[in-house]
Amino acid sequence: MKNVKVIGSMVLVSAFIVLGSAGISISGEGGVSDKGVESRNEKWAEKYPLHYKSWKATAENDEITDMLKKKPQLPILWAGYGFAKDYNAPRGHFYALQSNINTLRTGAPVGPNTGPMPTACWTCKSPDVPRIMDEQGELEYFTGKWAKYGNEIVNPIGCADCHNSQTGKLAISRPYLERGLEAIGMDPKKVDSEDMRTLACAQCHSEYYFKAEEWTDKEGNKKTAKVVTFPWDNGLTAEDMEKYYDDIEFKDWTHKISKAPMLKAQHPGYEIFKSGIHAKSGVTCVDCHMPTRSEGGESFSDHHLASPMGDIESICLNCHEQEADELKAVVEEKLERKEQLMTIAMDNLAKAHLEAGKAWELGANEAEMKDILTDIRHGQWKWDYSIASHGSFFHAPEETLRLLAVANETAQNARLKLVQILAKYGAVDYIAPDFSTKEMAQSLAGLDFKKLVDEKEKFRATLLKEWEKQAIEKGILSEETRKGMSDKTSYNQ
Ligand code: HEC
Ligand code: HEC
Ligand code: HEC
Ligand code: HEC
Repeated sequence: MKNVKVIGSMVLVSAFIVLGSAGISISGEGGVSDKGVESRNEKWAEKYPLHYKSWKATAENDEITDMLKKKPQLPILWAGYGFAKDYNAPRGHFYALQSNINTLRTGAPVGPNTGPMPTACWTCKSPDVPRIMDEQGELEYFTGKWAKYGNEIVNPIGCADCHNSQTGKLAISRPYLERGLEAIGMDPKKVDSEDMRTLACAQCHSEYYFKAEEWTDKEGNKKTAKVVTFPWDNGLTAEDMEKYYDDIEFKDWTHKISKAPMLKAQHPGYEIFKSGIHAKSGVTCVDCHMPTRSEGGESFSDHHLASPMGDIESICLNCHEQEADELKAVVEEKLERKEQLMTIAMDNLAKAHLEAGKAWELGANEAEMKDILTDIRHGQWKWDYSIASHGSFFHAPEETLRLLAVANETAQNARLKLVQILAKYGAVDYIAPDFSTKEMAQSLAGLDFKKLVDEKEKFRATLLKEWEKQAIEKGILSEETRKGMSDKTSYNQ
């Protein structure tokens, strides 16, 4: 959306102006190769130096914020699941691939068929993903272990994730988004460039799960793919997706302490954004995260995707008439409100897991625990959906707070039922153990952190180095690709 002025509560939308026909000329057009997917960002740089430079600025945010340290409830909430091992706040797109390789969640493979994760874990990290889908087919891409593509997926999120390599135009590079759009009644063939200002981001900033799909390759081998799938058949709200997962009895994992059949919300950023006032007023992701800049007489969309709060003047004040400081204070207050409700919900959910664990230990049976485990599953799903995409407190404040309130109520219901069960088995005074530091929480979750780190460091010193060497020999990775890339992790600093 462009040319909107929000004055008080009145919104003036003037005639929609398409860039290029309004006196502003936006630089560049056309593709960079005759066929296939050009995943090397440096190749695009030759034609689009300004875009490349602004894209590369996403390297500025290389900060590791260890969320397990900041919120020690998390290792309890995710006990038995990879996220309890390592989970950091998002950083710039330039680091997406490195974050994925370095996280303890992807483990320490020793060859192409080893390690805990499927190939699907690369999916929102690199333009080599659409390249491989193009070269080998989508189902082959989704078959096998993460380590299968260690020497192929080497370029960080870039041009070919959002642009067609032949035409240079914005394009959906991930077929599962097209299937998701069909599920919500949108025709992916009718997506226009205005829709793409949000859908380019929805390719990755969305909720998904891995759906098992049997298939047979050209040589007649039977294979099982784990296909990234958007659970959108009933709609985009937390309740719609919860019903989808309940109906197919899907679980991401069984909780190690409470034994509840859990769901992990990934990052339903697009979905929750759609419920907010900006989306409903036609504002797109690009309006706030990719403002128009000019340099040397040329205008272009700033590809430095980051928090807009660093530049309220040239982003928010395009449409709003308040002072920058006032708007900043409004956003900060929204964050504080979310943090307060979120902390209460996380404490209650973590205690519910620990109290359920105690109930099992004392001899509670499946029938007694069934409803409680469903409460825990549903409560935690609502909490996770509401906050996993980080910006939700601003993108859709009411929906975020509503879901946190429901999460809280559902966790409290579980705990009330647990009081009765614990009393029945003689533990009237049971108080959940202290989980106020990451170390305490990880130990309650049964994790040997030191062992995980030792194995990971060995992987980084051996197989990872080999992958890089092989990728350089294939010509898909060069020194230029990673110039200026630091190497921070949550465990080596
Ligand atoms: C190919 C997948 C992909 C696409 C497409 C994508 N993102 Fe991201 N985005 C990610 C991943 C993965 C991260 C986290 C990177 C990390 O922590 O290493 C991220 C992080 C971010 C961040 C945090 C940056 C920071 O410095 O804190 C913002 C903001 C963001 N994305 C906005 C967008 C917007 C807006 C779009 C659409 C124009 C978009 N993204 C498209 C995958 C993607
Ligand atoms: C995360 C998605 C994403 C990535 C990655 C990305 N772009 Fe874009 N790009 C967009 C979007 C969205 C627009 C349209 C902005 C608009 O409508 O104003 C755009 C617009 C453009 C344009 C049209 C002119 C303009 O400035 O609006 C060019 C040229 C371009 N990008 C080049 C690149 C190059 C080169 C790279 C890699 C260095 C790249 N883009 C990476 C999403 C992306
Ligand atoms: C492209 C135009 C546009 C941009 C850019 C924009 N807004 Fe808005 N904003 C709107 C519209 C339209 C509304 C709805 C106004 C209404 O209905 O009263 C709105 C509403 C709001 C509201 C009130 C609703 C709520 O969720 O509390 C706040 C606060 C707000 N915007 C803050 C910001 C901030 C901060 C930024 C920059 C990061 C920003 N806006 C960028 C158009 C924009
Ligand atoms: C009206 C402006 C606006 C629009 C539109 C908007 N965002 Fe945001 N976004 C923000 C603000 C403000 C924040 C909070 C930044 C902060 O806390 O510093 C944010 C935060 C984020 C973050 C988290 C960054 C972090 O490091 O924690 C991501 C990711 C993100 N937005 C992606 C998107 C995507 C994807 C869309 C479209 C589906 C979108 N945004 C639409 C203003 C906007």
